[in-house]
Amino acid sequence: MNSSRRTTLSRLLWGAAGVVALPVAYVAARFLRPPVTEPARCVAGSIEKIRSQPTTLVRVGLNDAVVQPMPDGTLRAISLRCTHTGCPVRWVDASREFHCSCHGGRFDSDGRVIAGPPPRPLQRLRVEQSGGNVIVIDEPPSDEPPSA
Ligand code: FES
Repeated sequence: MNSSRRTTLSRLLWGAAGVVALPVAYVAARFLRPPVTEPARCVAGSIEKIRSQPTTLVRVGLNDAVVQPMPDGTLRAISLRCTHTGCPVRWVDASREFHCSCHGGRFDSDGRVIAGPPPRPLQRLRVEQSGGNVIVIDEPPSDEPPSA
C-alpha cells in the first residue's frame, strides 16, 4: 500500500469515527446537562371569581388541579395527580375526600393520604396573583419542600 492510499484510508477512518462520535457526544452532553424547562402555568381566573367559589378546576400543563380559597384569605392549589402511579384523583363531595380509582388511594381535603398505597400527599402547586388574575404554577410553593 503506498502512502497516498494509506493517508486516504486513514482520513476515511477518522471521518467515520467522527460521524459516530459526534452524536454519541451530543447524547451524553444532553444526558449530563438536560435542557432547563419552564414549569407549566395557567390562568385560573379572576381573583374575584376564584374567591367566590369553593373550588375551581384548572388544567396546568398535562394535569388537573383544584384551586381553593382558604379561610385565612389565601388561595391554594392541589394537584389532582395521584402520588402513587399518577392516576387522576377526583373530589368526592359527600365524604370531603379525594379518591383515586386506580388502586383505591384516598386523601383528605388537605391532600394528606388517609388510605391506600399513595406514598405522599397530593402535591401543592404555587399560586400567584397578577393583574387581577390567579396564576397556578406546577411547582411546589416556596414554603413547601419539593416532594421526591
Ligand atoms: S395511582 Fe392512585 S392509588 Fe394507585
